[in-house]
Amino acid sequence: MKECLRLITDRRSITFFDPTRDIPNELIKEILEVSATAPSGYNIQPWEVIVVKDKEKKRKLKDICYGQQKVEDASANIVLVANTRAGEEHVDRILDSWIELGYIKPEARESLKSQIVAGWQDPQRAFRKAVRDTALFGMTIMITARAYGLETHPMEGYDEQKLKEFLGIEEHKVVPMVIAIGYKDQNRELLPRAYRFKFEEFGRIL
Ligand SMILES: Cc1cc2nc3c(=O)[nH]c(=O)nc-3n(C[C@H](O)[C@H](O)[C@H](O)COP(=O)(O)O)c2cc1C
Repeated sequence: MKECLRLITDRRSITFFDPTRDIPNELIKEILEVSATAPSGYNIQPWEVIVVKDKEKKRKLKDICYGQQKVEDASANIVLVANTRAGEEHVDRILDSWIELGYIKPEARESLKSQIVAGWQDPQRAFRKAVRDTALFGMTIMITARAYGLETHPMEGYDEQKLKEFLGIEEHKVVPMVIAIGYKDQNRELLPRAYRFKFEEFGRIL
């Protein structure tokens, strides 16, 4: 229990990665598949990832991330992509699995499909759904990475248009964050964790 809590409470945004360490592709895939157990509205899973590991590509990504050195030093960078058309694109796969597992009867399929797809029609709502679910996936990646002895750093500091051009991301997709992942440089120390608001400052119980 205490160990599980420490995965959360000891997580930091790691500024100093060991640039000599690699993460095998298989390990990255495992972390991402474990993280894909994250919840999403109607289980639509509107996320995609592009993992940037190649040295030259990391250098280019660093420029797009306004020169943030951690992008180059991290073993990899996970570019999270939220697909605002995931409602229509994923719904059939999800409904097939629900029917197969007995969640719903086959005759309920079409009305449920219309209901799900309708929720993604309004562009603002679709944007919110895609980004919300993808952010939950992102947080899960950061905690899962720690369970595998790795550290992360989430970033919003990048030129999104340039990033989309660089990685060939279509216009209807959004990049809510990039997560640098790797091993902390053991010779560098982070400053202590910065102030967190107390419950009384951000919450109320009714
Ligand atoms: C969505 C998101 C975007 C962030 N973008 C950046 C960034 O571009 N550059 C950076 O140095 N830190 C970035 N951070 C890290 C925050 O500054 C950091 O999480 C916060 O200061 C708390 O520090 P801690 O994560 O070590 O507790 C980002 C965090 C989040 C969640």
